[in-house]
Amino acid sequence: MSIQATITLDRDSRIGEIDPRLYGSFIEHLGRAVYGGIYEPGHPTADDEGFRTDVLDLVRALNVTIVRYPGGNFVSGYDWEDGVGPRSARPSRLDLAWRSLEPNQVGVNEFVSWCRKAGAEPMMAVNLGTRGPDAARRLVEYCNHSGGSAWSDQRRAHGYAAPHGIKLWCLGNEMDGPWQIGAKTAEEYGRVACETAKVMKWVDPTIELVVCGSSHLAMPTFGQWEITALNHTYEHVDYISLHTYYGNRDGNTPRFLGRSVQMDQFIAKVVRICDDIKARKGGKKDIHLSFDEWNVWYHSNEADRKQEPWQVAPPLLEDIYNFEDALVVGCMLITLLKHADRVKIACLAQLVNVIAPIMTVTGGGAWRQTIYYPFLHASNLGRGTALDLRAQSPVYDDPEIGPIPYLEAVGTLDPAQEALTLFAVNRSPEQDLTLTGDLRGFAGYRVAQHTVLRHDDPHATNTLAHPNAVTPSALPVAPGDGKSLHITLPRFSWNVVRLVKSS
Ligand code: AHR
Repeated sequence: MSIQATITLDRDSRIGEIDPRLYGSFIEHLGRAVYGGIYEPGHPTADDEGFRTDVLDLVRALNVTIVRYPGGNFVSGYDWEDGVGPRSARPSRLDLAWRSLEPNQVGVNEFVSWCRKAGAEPMMAVNLGTRGPDAARRLVEYCNHSGGSAWSDQRRAHGYAAPHGIKLWCLGNEMDGPWQIGAKTAEEYGRVACETAKVMKWVDPTIELVVCGSSHLAMPTFGQWEITALNHTYEHVDYISLHTYYGNRDGNTPRFLGRSVQMDQFIAKVVRICDDIKARKGGKKDIHLSFDEWNVWYHSNEADRKQEPWQVAPPLLEDIYNFEDALVVGCMLITLLKHADRVKIACLAQLVNVIAPIMTVTGGGAWRQTIYYPFLHASNLGRGTALDLRAQSPVYDDPEIGPIPYLEAVGTLDPAQEALTLFAVNRSPEQDLTLTGDLRGFAGYRVAQHTVLRHDDPHATNTLAHPNAVTPSALPVAPGDGKSLHITLPRFSWNVVRLVKSS
């Protein structure tokens, strides 16, 4: 017996326009993300700036739109001036966040150059841990002012005549977390974020700012932190950040697959707080959400504890993702799309080697992890308008999370191509799911493609030796009658169903 679920495809069930920045990612000075990841002079594929072109090819295919940098926890102790100017004069510093040695051979200029090659926009974070408004306003001037001032002329002297035009900036990182260098109370953070935001925008009024929300939903100060931070900064900021990572530490796969339900609740709560602050302040603008760290993260925790401190680019946070992780990432992507009206920015954390879809061997090859594929599909096909599918699905119960539907699904309508794409996960490890759809708003649309990611072993992984153990495949399609949809989502699978209009 299969599970039966239904959806309704209606043009009126529009959630919102999908901001392309929903398909962002993250490169932190952490482990081998930078050194041995995106940058490795001397590697057989390195270009004239030392960037690995094998990695660039994999990043470009992902169609990543923005990349957050340079942290993460790292930014809270970072002096950006260390990473500019002649490389031979750049200092090596102790990075207290990851207990590593930072050689500063890549800094903001190199990163922007790498972004251009990757086809992505940079999203910069400023240090509000050990520094504040002064360093932040100078960094904006260095990056975005055309010239004729001390900091912009320094950039020009460093070989970058044109301003970088960085539009999106984070006001620190996870400032509520005791693990953060220079962690703050909500009041302390709200004040410094406000003053920093003001001077950054005075230097460049075209920039957009993200204020730090809580580090995750379970932080004891969640809610009050957002209220306080926004009370101080509402007038000056555009987005508030959310972060979340999930793991299957106790081997409870049904619960792990249901974690995105909590992500959904997290988003809904932060939206309510943003709207409440707007109403209380009699404000005109909506504060949107920047989910600028999200992923699965737990496989590497044990190994990381054994690393010797103060190495350059140690192998930290090198999670090797399995098939079930890809399903969780798929559910999280669907959840972001279901909130496309308010979540305008999201960053899969991270991009290369560090809890990443792309892995490399320093001096060797590169490969795609299992989680690469749901992101690849959503980023390339999930553009345009997000549609609520009004899914009706049986649920299973989890004592911690509550009811979890077997079907997780969302639709996207790409008006340029008149194509409708359904992203769907069947969470059942045992049963296929028969999906019936009413095509009432899309009469004449027929299934053109059904791509699936599935594997009999939830713990199957890709490795350099076996890079294609978990890869998507095409399922045979029955185009349908143009009035209704009948498809089977195999047990435990990520599905991308493409419908196009045909007479
Ligand atoms: O992405 C890894 C780390 O997770 C980031 O540095 C930090 O912001 C979060 O705690």
